[in-house]
Amino acid sequence: MFQYYCLNPISKVGLEKFSDSYTKTETAEEAEGILVRSAAMHDMEFSDKLLCVARAGAGVNNIPLDRCAEKGIVVFNTPGANANGVKELVFAGMLLASRDIIGGINWVISDKGDENIAKAAEKEKKKFAGTEIEGKKLGIIGLGAIGVKVANAAKHLGMEVYGYDPYVSVDAAWNLSRDVKHVLNVEDIYENCDIITIHVPLLDSTKGMINKEAISKMKDGVILLNFARDLLADEKDVLEGIKAGKIRKYVSDFPNPTTAGQEGCIVIPHLGASTEESEDNCAKMAVKEMMNYLENGNIVNS
Ligand code: MLT
Repeated sequence: MFQYYCLNPISKVGLEKFSDSYTKTETAEEAEGILVRSAAMHDMEFSDKLLCVARAGAGVNNIPLDRCAEKGIVVFNTPGANANGVKELVFAGMLLASRDIIGGINWVISDKGDENIAKAAEKEKKKFAGTEIEGKKLGIIGLGAIGVKVANAAKHLGMEVYGYDPYVSVDAAWNLSRDVKHVLNVEDIYENCDIITIHVPLLDSTKGMINKEAISKMKDGVILLNFARDLLADEKDVLEGIKAGKIRKYVSDFPNPTTAGQEGCIVIPHLGASTEESEDNCAKMAVKEMMNYLENGNIVNS
């Protein structure tokens, strides 16, 4: 018999994949395996019983990897399992930044109940006009599972797509549309693109990569999207870029006190992977990885 603990609510569809040999515990101390979504584990004590942690998601920056390695606790994640959910929200963000949908909807809400609303809308709508994404140059920094999906979908929407990634996997290269211009320097993205979206993990080398210097190389009126991780962009520099008119809109899936609620910023409460499908896929993969390890000792991260 094995025992597992859920640090976050995990999709029922995923938990149903556990065989009868598994029981869910009330506390982490009793468990051989922990399932986690985005909850931070840095302050957690790990019991000697714990053998593995499975993250139902891609990023593992909520897990103290060094401490896990010291204690021999194996850490899994679920690469690609929520890529479609994130990809779809990236395009929602791109459209919200390009068209003033939020301004228009807020106007309708404030005017609700007015029997002349349709007539009033005809007068008002000029101020909510935007731009289209077809024909625009999209720069994708990071060509992992999500970056590749964003690139291929953008091609279908008629965008000119530039991709940058110094470590493209064979899988990504195989799946990437041949029409994506693969550039060797991130500067080529900064200098050429109208819309830039980041899809890299948070590492020492990527933290704060969207800073004053990077922003200064970008085109005037650039739209910036961050659906990867908080702290990849220096939010103060981003806000300055918006105030200076350099950045037209900043869309982030990571609420940060510097940009949340500020003019020019569209901040979403980390909803990229929050779809039924993505949550089920991540949970199913995480459960499979955990069972394969606990029962067979196999470390297979997929
Ligand atoms: C991820 O790293 O894949 C996402 O942050 C997942 C999530 O929203 O839980």
